[in-house]
Amino acid sequence: MIKLLVEPSGPLSGHIALHGAKNAVLPIMAACLLSEEASVIERVPKVADVTVMVEILRSLGVKVTVGKERLKIEPGKFSGTVAAYDLVSQMRASICVLGPLLARQGQARVSMPGGCVIGPRPIDLHLKGLEALGAVLSIEHGYIVASGRRLKGSDIQLVGTFGSSVLATGNVMMAATLAPGVTVIEHAACEPEVVDLANFLISMGARIEGQGTPVIRVEGVEKLHGSHYTIIPDRIECGTLMMATAITGGQVEIAGARIDHLNVVVDKLKEAGVIFDVRDDGVMVSAPNRLKGVDVTTQPYPGFPTDLQAPMLALMSTADGASVLTEKIYPERFMHVSELVRMGARIKREGSSALVRGVEQLSGAPVSGSDLRATAALVIAGLVAQNQTEVSGIEHLDRGYQGFEKYISSLGACIQRVPESSRTKKRELVSR
Ligand code: EPZ
Repeated sequence: MIKLLVEPSGPLSGHIALHGAKNAVLPIMAACLLSEEASVIERVPKVADVTVMVEILRSLGVKVTVGKERLKIEPGKFSGTVAAYDLVSQMRASICVLGPLLARQGQARVSMPGGCVIGPRPIDLHLKGLEALGAVLSIEHGYIVASGRRLKGSDIQLVGTFGSSVLATGNVMMAATLAPGVTVIEHAACEPEVVDLANFLISMGARIEGQGTPVIRVEGVEKLHGSHYTIIPDRIECGTLMMATAITGGQVEIAGARIDHLNVVVDKLKEAGVIFDVRDDGVMVSAPNRLKGVDVTTQPYPGFPTDLQAPMLALMSTADGASVLTEKIYPERFMHVSELVRMGARIKREGSSALVRGVEQLSGAPVSGSDLRATAALVIAGLVAQNQTEVSGIEHLDRGYQGFEKYISSLGACIQRVPESSRTKKRELVSR
């Protein structure tokens, strides 16, 4: 187990470039299964979830060559149809091999995704959407068992209690690309990562319209060819960096930022007092004065993303005044509240909301991250806490942020990665 030692860091400053989006590359890696031909994907983030997906593809008999920020995926006539428990249980996103396996092989056995600290992760919409295409699915001994030799286009309503589903939209869209006829997905997820997946599929020869809107139309084709594609920048990494900059009162230029992927987040941060100077290839973010508390409700895109709720809660913990953060996607996604309270934050849970009263100063403490976004939030809080904060659960962080501490340290933060066991004395940390 490893942990990060975070010292109060002073204002972050400098220039940083974003990595590719984890939540875009994972379904796009699965989409490569839809063709026999090789595909090359660029701007691939070096994160643990990508490593797991590489192992899943290899376990299916697919050749994967891993480069610096590049993958070459050569499915050929792979024979595998089983995504095994030991791999799938490490990462819920593995479920997005289900649609491509069904479309290519006519059958699939994919382990049910494991539980998750952010709350229940049902898969009813995945099953409903694939059944609408003519697949037969059942749950047997912890596996989703699917068959469907002849999928065909259909009209599908893909909405659940909590709105649209990103990966269910991806699964159905991928399966529909090779299903004869027309598939119309109503209440499709509109996230940029879904748009990126659709654009990748189109670059393989798929016929898709409406991506980015709640109605996606797919016309099935005979076969798809390989592609060479560059992943969109990671908007959640971008939002996390904006909040790290803001909490320290810093000034950072984020190259490659797609502000159009974060409109609601930028609006909320502006309301709190953060200043943005949008440039051709990115954005300058600064927060010269203490921020004021603002209210946030997470929603499906284009609403405020649930993946930035925890970093925003950390930011609001030191803002001037009160804020209410309400979770409409994962009502239980508040494991980070008790950890921030250990650091002196004044937060009260009320159902699916967290009520915050900003404090002048947090205090460093040993805290533990529960999911990747919660862990990032604790690091952000540690940047301005008095004395050292020890953040454990860094394996979560490594799932979705590439070299997070090096990244933030390049902007002046004092963060050190150490083995869990060491009682590291507080020492002058080289921050640059
Ligand atoms: C994706 O997960 C992201 N993961 C999540 O990011 C993100 O939090 C989530 O979308 C919401 O934006 C990846 O893309 C790999 P959903 P996904 O299906 O697709 C309910 C991170 O931190 N639902 O859009 O699994 C579900 O319970 C991760 O990077 C059903 O009811 O999420 C939730 O309340 C965490 N039935 C809501 O829909 C279903 O069949 C949205 O979930 C599926 C989902």
